[in-house]
Amino acid sequence: MTSGTAISAQRTTPLDVAAVRQDFPILRQRVHGKPLVYLDNAATTQKPQAVIDRLVRYYTEDNGNVHRGVHWLSERATDAYEAARDIVRRFLNAAESREIVFVRGTTEAINLVAQTYGRTHVGAGDEIVISTLEHHSNIVPWQLLCEEKGARLRVIPISDSGELDLDAYQKLLGDRTRLVSVVHVSNALGTINPVDEIIRLAHRRGIPVLVDGAQAVAHMKVDVQALGCDFYALSGHKMLGPTGIGVLYATSSLLEAMPPYQSGGDMIRSVTFEQTLFNTLPYKFEAGTPDISGAIVLGTAIGYLTQVGLDRIAAHEHELLEYGTDALSRIPGVRLMGTAKQKAGILSFVVDGVHPHDIGTILDREGVAIRTGHHCCQPLMHRLAVPATARASLALYNTRDEIDALAAALGNVREVFA
Ligand code: ALA
Repeated sequence: MTSGTAISAQRTTPLDVAAVRQDFPILRQRVHGKPLVYLDNAATTQKPQAVIDRLVRYYTEDNGNVHRGVHWLSERATDAYEAARDIVRRFLNAAESREIVFVRGTTEAINLVAQTYGRTHVGAGDEIVISTLEHHSNIVPWQLLCEEKGARLRVIPISDSGELDLDAYQKLLGDRTRLVSVVHVSNALGTINPVDEIIRLAHRRGIPVLVDGAQAVAHMKVDVQALGCDFYALSGHKMLGPTGIGVLYATSSLLEAMPPYQSGGDMIRSVTFEQTLFNTLPYKFEAGTPDISGAIVLGTAIGYLTQVGLDRIAAHEHELLEYGTDALSRIPGVRLMGTAKQKAGILSFVVDGVHPHDIGTILDREGVAIRTGHHCCQPLMHRLAVPATARASLALYNTRDEIDALAAALGNVREVFA
């Protein structure tokens, strides 16, 4: 056990980015003859060697189906899978492991809530509150539910800097509001929403809140009990883990009362042709063979993030964000989109007279990987009156030199289109 003094010393030590980079083999590659500068972390993060090794070790030594066999490999896989659930529980500070449901990703987590909680609690004339900042995955599931039930989607507006209008939010909450579903960190602009306040205001009226944490969990500490959220959704691949695995956190009282999502093996206690009794939590929501290796390796990714320290990661990314904001602001013709006071490491921008896709292509030739497009946030783009943006998104292994490379490559974009 580390002493309190050692822990605080560790937290105040800045992140050793050179050492961190050594852990990510993909970053050693060259692209078009240039060192890879990977700035598309909001789309997916790269994986440390420990994560890659754990995946290989799982299939080399541990592979068996979970909860089904009494043989050695099945028990070994089951133990590792359930240990991973507990790692997630500790990471999010959930009260119980049964509140952690493994799903494919944030999208599936939100669909699960819409199709189970939503279908049982939302009726004709009811309302669901989301925000202008939402990703399509936190819009479309609610739209489909509203269409089916004759309910109405209400949308919290934003300011020009990309901050939620909390006064308008309060006015949207009413007797017909059945759920609030908001993003923790905007994937397109980086705004960190005041989810604690959003939850507090909703709970005053007894309204549950879902938080889409896909862009938060690899960049800041999240404590679901301190937040008091009812549902929290995340994706493994955006936090150094593999694709195809994610988590829905929900309080056990909500999960107990929710009907199953998908049905089949493992989610049952007993089946006859007349009747099926469902399994206990969380298995009621995990039909079929799950992504066993994905869950185990997600546990390894969380171990890595925790070891590096989320406080240090947040401080490092914040410093880079400030450096990048300054560097990009100095480039003629570059306009930053999203300038909220509370921001995570996302630099979304447009360049006068240049389509974002052209920016992305020219930057790629310099080895710089960014995302361009609407970032699955078409209504947000509409609000900002742009068809698309170019977006550089940061992670723990990015450096000032890489921001310099981005800025230099952006200089070339201007030259090409001058
Ligand atoms: N939601 C991911 C992104 O923002 C794919 O790029």
